[in-house]
Amino acid sequence: MAKGVQLRLMAASDWEACRALCGAGFGGAQCELPSQDVLKRFLARNPFMSWVACDEAARVVGCVLCGTDAWRGYLYHLVVESAFRRRGIGELLLGRAMGGLQKFGIQKALILSPRGNPDMELLLLERGWRRGDDVTVYVADLSVPAT
Ligand SMILES: CC(C)(COP(=O)(O)OP(=O)(O)OC[C@H]1O[C@@H](n2cnc3c(N)ncnc32)[C@H](O)[C@@H]1OP(=O)(O)O)[C@@H](O)C(=O)NCCC(=O)NCCS
Repeated sequence: MAKGVQLRLMAASDWEACRALCGAGFGGAQCELPSQDVLKRFLARNPFMSWVACDEAARVVGCVLCGTDAWRGYLYHLVVESAFRRRGIGELLLGRAMGGLQKFGIQKALILSPRGNPDMELLLLERGWRRGDDVTVYVADLSVPAT
């Protein structure tokens, strides 16, 4: 891995750094992070699954957000700062998240990633993941009253 880079569990206080990273990661708005309050609840409900990578100055240069509904695992926001890519950090973050899911006996994981993300595709498809072409994701906005 990149010299001096270390992985640690994500904390709610990493929110700002992760938000900046996700904004710069791929298309900005498509990678919007939950609010800091939601992140705090998410991390409390899903221990040992979400990680950050930090450089020698303890600056966050990579992150992955991961949780489970007790049946399947869901990964979001796997991002590594461009200057730190291709040094194995993305693979390590992915491995830590998967390890967290395995601790809880989760056997199937899904990644929700914006389309047209070639580096992510290369990372995943070369490591046993497959594209979920057999499903379509439907999205409902619950802030709008149901009809
Ligand atoms: C996908 C991503 C996380 C990979 O991070 P990374 O630290 O560069 O990944 P790694 O160094 O661990 O690479 C692992 C493997 O992925 C593949 N890979 C990743 N990027 C690649 C590229 N540009 N070209 C070819 N292969 C690539 C390779 O197989 C690589 O292994 P290798 O270096 O031994 O050949 C990073 O490119 C990224 O952050 N992209 C933007 C992600 C994003 O927008 N996420 C959504 C946010 S909501």
